[in-house]
Amino acid sequence: MQEFSPIKEGKVREVYDNGDSLIIVATDRISAFDVILKNKVTKKGAILTQMSKFWFDFTSDIIPNHMITTDVKEMPEFFQNDRFDGNSMMCRKLEMLPIECIVRGYITGSGWASYKENGTVCGIKLPEGLKESEKLPEPIYTPSTKADIGLHDENISFERSIEVLEEKFPGKGLEYATKIKDATIALYKKCADYALSKGIIIADTKFEFGLDENGNVVIGDEMLTPDSSRFWPLEGYEAGKGQPSFDKQFVRDWLKANPESDYLLPDEVVNKTIDKYKEAFALLTGKDFE
Ligand SMILES: Nc1ncnc2c1ncn2[C@@H]1O[C@H](COP(=O)(O)OP(=O)(O)O)[C@@H](O)[C@H]1O
Ligand SMILES: [Mg+2]
Repeated sequence: MQEFSPIKEGKVREVYDNGDSLIIVATDRISAFDVILKNKVTKKGAILTQMSKFWFDFTSDIIPNHMITTDVKEMPEFFQNDRFDGNSMMCRKLEMLPIECIVRGYITGSGWASYKENGTVCGIKLPEGLKESEKLPEPIYTPSTKADIGLHDENISFERSIEVLEEKFPGKGLEYATKIKDATIALYKKCADYALSKGIIIADTKFEFGLDENGNVVIGDEMLTPDSSRFWPLEGYEAGKGQPSFDKQFVRDWLKANPESDYLLPDEVVNKTIDKYKEAFALLTGKDFE
């Protein structure tokens, strides 16, 4: 049997090279306040992988995606066991575009901080009088470039994203920048409207795109998981204050109340968190996570 070892190990995900394809594995690791916790959240990886699969299927009319399969029986033998079953996605290998495509439908986090200071978010002027967590009149596109390890991603303007892409793909900067901007907004609108009808606010999210072997722009990475997005419960939503995270609310509350814990959570908090991921999955897909 061919052995595989990850070509990349992120905080939460592992990536394996399989020739023309990649196998992206979501682990059960969870981070909060930018730290990996000592506990594993059982099935989190599988739930998030199946959520990405749901969104890729849901949006294939808008743009092609990199997903080949999440069925380990279609992957090399090495992956055909419990460690990879359900939490792995085999994907077409893309040439990734060096832009993080962020879209915000609500004003929160760093966007809220910047708006309070000068009325703009990433250089985009917003109407006066917005409250914290308020829905924006229209979703805004606020791209960033991936910084080198250890540095924060850098927010850039749409015009700068054209230049960044033009440097790497001469003659194609405007075309690619426009395509990924338009796709980002269209994907967000369709999915956020749908999620809202199921009781979940997707306040903002990040997409990554790449080029396939024919030069088509394809969406890659993970899609609209709570790890790449801010999910808020619709129930209890009210502008004028910060909103609780749909999935990490118990984790963050407990960590704040227990600063000495050294990031080891009690079972009760972990179990409640597992239930929140299952609940999000069931609300969005209409199916129980078995
Ligand atoms: N289809 C794909 N082809 C090539 N690279 C991909 C594809 N989908 C996602 N990626 C890349 O795989 C990596 C996943 O790593 P990740 O765990 O998110 O860590 P990080 O975002 O910190 O680099 C990212 O660099 C992402 O751009
Ligand atoms: Mg990433």
